[in-house]
Amino acid sequence: MEKIVIEGGTRLEGEVRVSGAKNAVLPIMAACILNEGVNTFTNVPDLSDVRTMIKLLKILGAEVEYENEKLKIDSTNIDNWEAPYDLVKTMRASVLVLGPLTARFRKSRVSLPGGCAIGERPIDQHIKGLEILGAKTKLEEGYVETSAKVLKGGVIPFDVSTVTGTENIMLSASISEGETVLLNAACEPEVVDLANVLIKMGAKIEGAGTDIITIEGVKKLNPIKDYEIMPDRIEAGTLMIAASLNESDLTIKNCKFEHLGNLAGKLIQAGVEIKRDNGSIRVKGSKEITSTDISTLPYPGFPTDMQAQMMTLMCLCQGMSIITENIFPQRFMHTSELRRMGADIKIVGNSAVVRGVREISGAPIMASDLRASASLVLAGLAAKGKTEVLRVYHLDRGYEQLDKKLEAVGAKIWREEY
Ligand code: EPU
Repeated sequence: MEKIVIEGGTRLEGEVRVSGAKNAVLPIMAACILNEGVNTFTNVPDLSDVRTMIKLLKILGAEVEYENEKLKIDSTNIDNWEAPYDLVKTMRASVLVLGPLTARFRKSRVSLPGGCAIGERPIDQHIKGLEILGAKTKLEEGYVETSAKVLKGGVIPFDVSTVTGTENIMLSASISEGETVLLNAACEPEVVDLANVLIKMGAKIEGAGTDIITIEGVKKLNPIKDYEIMPDRIEAGTLMIAASLNESDLTIKNCKFEHLGNLAGKLIQAGVEIKRDNGSIRVKGSKEITSTDISTLPYPGFPTDMQAQMMTLMCLCQGMSIITENIFPQRFMHTSELRRMGADIKIVGNSAVVRGVREISGAPIMASDLRASASLVLAGLAAKGKTEVLRVYHLDRGYEQLDKKLEAVGAKIWREEY
């Protein structure tokens, strides 16, 4: 296994480029199940989650090639509708094939995702949506099985705002009969990127990016060419926090400021200097970071996927901040590792009370999930002395060479086998 070793305290300076978005490319890859032919995409990040989705599409019968951020998916010969436990257990987003397989084959068998380090993650809303479209569903041997004679449009009121739930139903309703209306739909930019892809394939979708999405089903979708995946706003946000530490100064290229408004606002409140430029954001840290409270919410609120990284910054601020996690109330596995580095954090229900300390010190620490591992790398950058982050495979699921990117702007960071 690999660990990341960081010699902390170095100021970062220079330009760093953001890769394509993990949470956009995964549903977009699943969308290819809906057509027959060759689809091509650019700006595709090299992540282990992307590799897992490639494996899954190949098991389903697709031919896939991936090189230099270019992805080619030939969906002509997809002839299998089962997503096995072995893959779903390594990546929950595999559940995104449930809607497209049901739409293409009128049946599917997809392993139910199990437990998760960030807490409860049911898929009842995905199932409710498919049932409203006319699919029969049952749970057998740990698998969700769907079957339908036809998929017919319907009104789907989601009980909670769910990103992959919205995506799964948008995918299946695209090739169905009649009109589907999603109420309380997720508004995340990744939902919009998926809708843009589906529309280019020939789907009739209106309202993506708002909480009401209308889909007029069509008979078939066509393959698309050279679609550029949107930049990863969570990677950009993580780099913005890196720039806020150690009085650093980074220009973050290939990102969309409009996707990062809430985070930028909080950083400005904390004393960080932020300048937006065409397609890039310049972030300068300050000597005195002040505390600010955070409460995670669906988009455009503060993203849960930035909660852990923001906590690292708040550990080093002046004053006390309260970080409330409303999306995944138990998503606090990183706090005990941050405490080992000297941070002062107390968990009360779904909130963390963080009292800023003058400095934290390097230590061996363990990553528990993707965003937690990013927060620990950030803590390592800020800490005095040497930090070793174990289980970095969590980081590689969703960040393309974060360590190399940080090294290129001055961080003392490298990988070692253990
Ligand atoms: N929920 C239900 N029932 C459902 C679906 C969701 O109760 O059927 C609840 C969840 O338990 C949670 C809330 O609804 O409390 C929101 O969950 P959501 O379904 O939106 O999460 P997700 O679609 O499984 C995506 C991202 C996550 C990100 C969340 C929230 C992808 C592939 N994953 O997950 O990304 O945290 O939305 O924004 O898009 C990550 O990248 O590190 C990551 C975990």
